[in-house]
Amino acid sequence: MSELAILGGVKTRTEPYPKWPVWDQRDIDAVTEVIKSGRWGGYPYPGPKTAELARKFLEMQGGNFAVVMANGTVTMEVALRAAGVGWGDEVLVPAYTFQATASAPMAAGAIPVIVDIDPNTYCMDAKAAEKAITPKTKAIIPVHLASNMADMDAIMALAEKYNLIVVEDCAHAHGAKWRGMGAGTIGHFGSFSLQSSKTLTTGEGGILLCKAPELAAKAASIIDCGRPHALGGGGEDYSLDYQVGGNFRLSEIAAALALVGIERFPAQARQREAMAAYMDEALSEISGVRVLKRDERHTTRSFYRYVFAIQPSVFGVEHDVLCAALDAEGIDCWVGYEAMHNYTLFQPLKSKLAVPNAFPEYFDFASMDLPEATRACEHEAVWLDEAVFRAGSRGVDDAVTAIKKIQANAKELAEAALKRAP
Ligand SMILES: Cc1ncc(COP(=O)(O)O)c(C=O)c1O
Repeated sequence: MSELAILGGVKTRTEPYPKWPVWDQRDIDAVTEVIKSGRWGGYPYPGPKTAELARKFLEMQGGNFAVVMANGTVTMEVALRAAGVGWGDEVLVPAYTFQATASAPMAAGAIPVIVDIDPNTYCMDAKAAEKAITPKTKAIIPVHLASNMADMDAIMALAEKYNLIVVEDCAHAHGAKWRGMGAGTIGHFGSFSLQSSKTLTTGEGGILLCKAPELAAKAASIIDCGRPHALGGGGEDYSLDYQVGGNFRLSEIAAALALVGIERFPAQARQREAMAAYMDEALSEISGVRVLKRDERHTTRSFYRYVFAIQPSVFGVEHDVLCAALDAEGIDCWVGYEAMHNYTLFQPLKSKLAVPNAFPEYFDFASMDLPEATRACEHEAVWLDEAVFRAGSRGVDDAVTAIKKIQANAKELAEAALKRAP
């Protein structure tokens, strides 16, 4: 019988990894307090819990102003709208990210222009970004993907040279730092998701960090149905102008949950960082495995998922086969997103949305050449679940044992995968 669990052998790990989100009596008490107060909603904006969350998040992440809102997609739409980026403007987005990074510009009326990634970090390649800049380019959305950060020095240099707005997509980067500066505090805006899988969560929620008080005030106004907000977004100010907005406020119940999560965050982040370093070392000894390069300017690593690359010809199988085998071994993992131009979740031309219908020439995915993202997404990337690291060194050891076991039996696995292929 095979040694591999996927072929009928014994699993490496039988104990499930710990569940996410974690919660205890404090979460129940926090929600109960809001329920009893009767102040459930986000209006008038910001409510007391929402205002406290903005303050505490700024203490944790750094930055000047925080506007708390419904999720980490509208954060990016609102950032672009607040900065005056809209109809027909081009916004650079990386090819390797969740669809939201590209759909948010369209919601603001702008055109996402997909840029290839740096194979060392899997984040936006600043050189590829510069090549994509045209007179219509108005903004750039680097994503700090999974466990890495985009080269913010190079991106900010582009922003200065070409007068671009920078919205950092930090949905994966709570707590991360670049040269000691919090992710999301370097660009004009930093967009954070608090959705259930994220390392700080309220179930659904988002926070937009803003560098300038007038941008924070505009963002607060846009998410509060257009009501005018004071500079910094700290409350209504009817001496200012109304504008077009919608209701993207967060409920006070959700804000209360995030306030408990934020108390737990520092200890969780320390453990993740230590266990990620432990994993880097263990993986660097396996042939055919490439640990993604951590830029030395990425001074604090705080990750959402731990991503590594394989070289299939050396490792012995493709990444999807490795992930399926790892899963069977009891190791929680994923192959990652598809490259944006092949992404089944990102199909703008099938919609009646204004942007793809007005500018179809930007959405000719078949003609796009994005070799680095394609290689990462179709052959190389392996995303290990954060829970693997929350289970401590035993959790990491089990994952490494399983990877080594799969590699030792890669020939048998590759033959079995070939037989199963259609
Ligand atoms: C990279 C990235 N950007 C943006 C988002 C959107 O966040 P939300 O789900 O809160 O809208 C997500 C995840 O969900 C994400 O992974």
